[in-house]
This record gives sequence, structure tokens and C-alpha cells, in this order.
Amino acid sequence: MPPRIFSTLRGHPLLTAAALLCFSAATIPAYQDYQLYMSYGPGGPPYNAFGWFISRFLITPFAQEMFGTEVYQQRINQGETTTFIHLPDGKLPRRKGKIPVVGPHAVPQRQINQLPNEEIKRKLTETFNAVATNNSKLVKLAPSRLERHTDAMWLTDAIPLSSRIQEAVQTVGEVSHIHGTSDHSVHVVLCPEDAKEVIDAGWGQRNGFSGWKPVATLTRGNINLPATYILVYAPRNQEEIEVVMELVRASLRYMSGGAEVIS
Ligand SMILES: *[C@@H]1O[C@H](CO)[C@@H](O)[C@H](O)[C@H]1NC(C)=O
Repeated sequence: MPPRIFSTLRGHPLLTAAALLCFSAATIPAYQDYQLYMSYGPGGPPYNAFGWFISRFLITPFAQEMFGTEVYQQRINQGETTTFIHLPDGKLPRRKGKIPVVGPHAVPQRQINQLPNEEIKRKLTETFNAVATNNSKLVKLAPSRLERHTDAMWLTDAIPLSSRIQEAVQTVGEVSHIHGTSDHSVHVVLCPEDAKEVIDAGWGQRNGFSGWKPVATLTRGNINLPATYILVYAPRNQEEIEVVMELVRASLRYMSGGAEVIS
């Protein structure tokens, strides 16, 4: 026997039309949202309709705002004033133009405009890998635990668990990764002073779950993003590759407990 709703609708063409309209009104935006999710390329959650569903309905609704710097200022006021960004003229320049649009899904976190061309993507990846190789005492390249489909810099045993800073314990040693399957934005973990400077100068924003404790509890520490887990927007030219890579180096200096980073 067909469910009662169908037999009710059969006798009422107007009601049927209205029901169909409601159904399509709900599914067309959902389908577009799914297509947008798939356009990011593979990332943390499964790269299929199941992953989309989880991201859209079970993860994204709980994401926090991503631009406030009060949380960093408090730590700076308490004495965490060191900066790990070493630029020739001292200060991070303001990033030119508008900040990119970041997709509405908390995971994977991706920008959807101002995407770099293939050459810039290649150069960024090459430089990232070269910095890892030049600093092979501190870091090794291995698949990201948070993004899975892309290599990350991981602290080596030269920085043993017992002497790791809190953030490096939280990420299990993962320092930074490029979103190499898609937009080529970069995730880094910075000190509070640098995180504030990056957001203030328009180079990046937090993840919706950076520093959000309930997610760490719910996932039994599997996802435990530091408050200074920052998305750095993809570089658009050579000049910006240098800034972005300096932020990766700053992340490496901070996460290794202040180690000397070779170029
Ligand atoms: C890696 O080290 C070499 C030799 O010291 C240096 O020439 C090169 O610029 C470094 N590469 C990067 C990306 O830092």
C-alpha cells in the first residue's frame, strides 16, 4: 500500500503541484550547494554526497566567526608578544584589494574567487617543498591528517612530544599544508601576535572551528584546532608567494618552539 501522503495527493492536483514546488524549492539550492562543495576538490570530509551532507548539516551550523582578534589580543596582553614573521621592512604589508570570498562550508575551508593560475600554484608548492627539504631536521612532508589529500609539514622527532608547545600537541605535530587539490590557500598555525597581524592586514582568517573546544571533546581530540589555526589566502603573484611563504616559515618557527629556520 502506498504511503498515505501519496494517496492524499493523488486526489488533489493543486496540493500535488504545491508539494512539488516546495520539494524543488528545497532541492535546487541544496543541489547547487552540493555542486559548490564538490567544486572545492577533495579535502577533510569524504568527497561525495555523504561528505557534503555531513559538512552542510552536521558541521557547518556549529562553525564560529572567523575574523575577531580579541581572543589573540588577550594572550598578547598576557605577555605573548613575540612575533615570528621576519620581513625585510619589519611589518606585514596590507594585502591588496578585497579579501577573497571563502566558501560557505566550514569544511573543507576553501576560497572560491581570486584563485591563482597554474604557474603560481606550481611555484608555491615548489617553494613549500623546498623549505621543508631545507629544514629536514625540523620537519618532514607527509599526508595531512586534517586535509588527507595533500602533503603537510610535520614536526620530526627532533622536537619530541614532551617539549612541544600546546598547539603542536593539539595538531599532533602538523604545522602547515597547502590545499594542493584545489584553491592553493594554506593552513598554518601561528602565535597570537602573528595571527592578529595576518587577520588585520587581510592575508587570512581563522577556521570556523579554530579554538572551539566542544569539537575537540566530541571528536575525542581527533580534531583539535588551535585558536591560531589560520587560513592564509592563496597568493596571486610572485610577491604574494613570498609573503605567504614567510607566514609558513613563521608557523614553522613557532611550532618548533622557536627553532632557526633555514631560508
Ligand atoms: C633552500 O636552501 C638553499 C641553499 O641554502 C637556498 O639557496 C634556497 O633559497 C632555499 N630554498 C628556500 C625555498 O628557502
